[in-house]
Amino acid sequence: MKTVLAAAGPHPVGVAEGPAAAYVLTVVIPTFNERDNVPVLLARLGRTLGGVAWQIIVVDDDSPDGTASVVKAIAAADGRVSCLRRVGRRGLAGAVVEGIMAASAPIVAVIDADLQHDETLLPAMLEHLRADRADLVIGSRYLRPGAVALGLSPMRRAGSRLAAWLARRVLKTEVSDPVSGFFMVRRNVVEAVAPRLSSHGFKILFDIIASQPAPLRILELPYDFAQRRAGESKFDGRVAADYLSLVMARLTGDLIPPRAVMFGLVGASGLIVHLAVLRLCQGLGARFAAAQLIAALTAMTSNYLINNAVTYRDRRLAGAALLTGYLRFAGLCAIGLIANVAVAGLVHRLTPAWWLAGAAGALFGAAWNYVSTSVAVW
Ligand code: GDD
Ligand code: MN
Repeated sequence: MKTVLAAAGPHPVGVAEGPAAAYVLTVVIPTFNERDNVPVLLARLGRTLGGVAWQIIVVDDDSPDGTASVVKAIAAADGRVSCLRRVGRRGLAGAVVEGIMAASAPIVAVIDADLQHDETLLPAMLEHLRADRADLVIGSRYLRPGAVALGLSPMRRAGSRLAAWLARRVLKTEVSDPVSGFFMVRRNVVEAVAPRLSSHGFKILFDIIASQPAPLRILELPYDFAQRRAGESKFDGRVAADYLSLVMARLTGDLIPPRAVMFGLVGASGLIVHLAVLRLCQGLGARFAAAQLIAALTAMTSNYLINNAVTYRDRRLAGAALLTGYLRFAGLCAIGLIANVAVAGLVHRLTPAWWLAGAAGALFGAAWNYVSTSVAVW
């Protein structure tokens, strides 16, 4: 007891005294299958950050290409580099948050491993933060005309612009690139909101800004978004859907969780499937009632499969469980349909507004489907 008290001075127990340098900057690099890129980026960072006491944390989601062992070999020779190998988990946002949580410097930067971001911007970013001109500095692809031309396909470019526009509506700030994967921030800004951050999807920066209780002082610096060096992008339709549901959840003031938004979006896709199949069956000469039944069953099946693959991909059912899950899903949706009609009838007795009654029934049915299947299916 006595020794512990005696040791508990300015230096915490168990930490050796000595010239241990305090890191000024921690650079967090999320990786998935970036074996060939990471060593190049680390070398470039070493050159760019010459005068800075830096630390690098690579957060790798157990890449099958062995990225973690490549980084660990480098880390064995340079104590400033470390590798956090996450097993059984996937997700850029979660990887970035965990990297920041493990950082020891007061300022953290996040940069992609594939060399699409211009690491020579880091010293200027750091300078702004150290001079207390901002709490967050973003590397922006949209301040210079044509700066994304190399790094994004025309399709991705349009999507990225739409994503940025949506994000600005939610954030109510004039940030040009709120979905950038390249930024530097005071660590306490992220620590304060860490429990609120979503761990899947790509839009960690958007989420950090949206979760702040008070507006941040934000600066943006332009850079040209380069082409990926080796390997391929992990961006896909699911990442886009993830983003959309996160933005919409924030739009509802977090009243509706992102997963429920996603479930709703899948439901909306079911309506399109329904109408398409209805049209097809009628074209093939089926009677309307029969066509409507086939359309409804097809839409329900596609909803189930998409929800299983996207909304609940972290708890995805496979094999026999996929079939029993389907039967349960169908049963619960049938109950949802009965509840839908009952609620609509009830509301219709109170008001002559047919659309209000119809919408109330549909909303109740959808809520039932979401809540019941989240408990009993996934
Ligand atoms: N740990 C981990 N886990 N890292 C991941 C994961 C994951 O599940 N998915 C992607 N990464 C890493 C990649 O290895 C890369 O270093 C970085 O995150 C960016 O991934 P890319 O797959 O190269 O993304 P992109 O270039 O298509 O998307 C870029 O633009 C988006 C906006 O349009 C990125 O900068 C995104 O951050 C940005 O939101
Ligand atoms: Mn990339």
